[in-house]
Amino acid sequence: PAEATATAHAKVILLGEHAVVHGAPAIALPVHGLALTATVTRTDRPLWIDSVLYRGPIAAAPELLAAPVTAIVETLRHVGAPATGRAVRIDGEIPAERGLGSSAAVAAAIAAAVARSCGVELDAAERFALIQAAERVAHGTPSGLDARSVVSDTPVWFQAGQARELPSALGGVFVIADTGLRGRTREAVAGVAALKAAEPDRVAGILSRIQECTQAAVDDLAGDDRAALGARMSQVHALLRELTVSNPHLDRLVASAEAAGALGAKLTGGGRGGCVLALAETAQNAETIAAAMRENGAERTWMLRPEET
Ligand code: MEV
Repeated sequence: PAEATATAHAKVILLGEHAVVHGAPAIALPVHGLALTATVTRTDRPLWIDSVLYRGPIAAAPELLAAPVTAIVETLRHVGAPATGRAVRIDGEIPAERGLGSSAAVAAAIAAAVARSCGVELDAAERFALIQAAERVAHGTPSGLDARSVVSDTPVWFQAGQARELPSALGGVFVIADTGLRGRTREAVAGVAALKAAEPDRVAGILSRIQECTQAAVDDLAGDDRAALGARMSQVHALLRELTVSNPHLDRLVASAEAAGALGAKLTGGGRGGCVLALAETAQNAETIAAAMRENGAERTWMLRPEET
């Protein structure tokens, strides 16, 4: 085909980030309203990338684009096509490095579109492997949670590399608030590993308390127990703080959401920047909570209705 496209969407982690790197489960929700598209056209030039960050041959692409470049090159290799003659354009609205899965979504869209431009439809396992190859360049040791959740239409339960759909009857409204600060997933993951090496018993205790919250949330989702789920979110934020992956900006947004009536709030994703996720009882509460977080430094906010996840 002369032109091929594919899309992927953002994700938020409801519970279990960081613990998931150490074998515990995590729950992620798709954010269909924030998506990006890769468009691949055939050209007679060397491989080319066209994004807001850089436009030019991939051979001269900045280090920041190492993961999408990996997705392009590895996908062509996987389908047995030569590494030339394609231009890859990325359009979308998922902010980068905010814990919303943008790097996995970029790789997911690129892998599917590049393969499609070669007449190949990747199956889920092939696509996952290619996203993970790009994610390793971006983050070092990705659990695979992002790679699974940016292509899922439903909430995802993820543990030890395995993903399954999670039934949910949850109502209410989530508010996602962006600190405007780059998340530092790689550093935060390394920080937790260092803390675990230094204080293995304490960290094992924290990780197992996070795991208990994640496991209990399965029933909260199925039974629409918003109050219980919100309480677990706030509890997990406190545990993530103990793991050193929060920061004063995130803590301030969490506190302001709670003061404005949120059922619970926590950082979401890698932390040390990025976003906060708060749960509101109603759409009206959600507006109040979003306004409070913007007054307390959030650069922007989004609403996420659980029934749309
Ligand atoms: C990043 O979105 C989530 C982390 O748990 C890292 C990972 O799962 O690879 C912090």
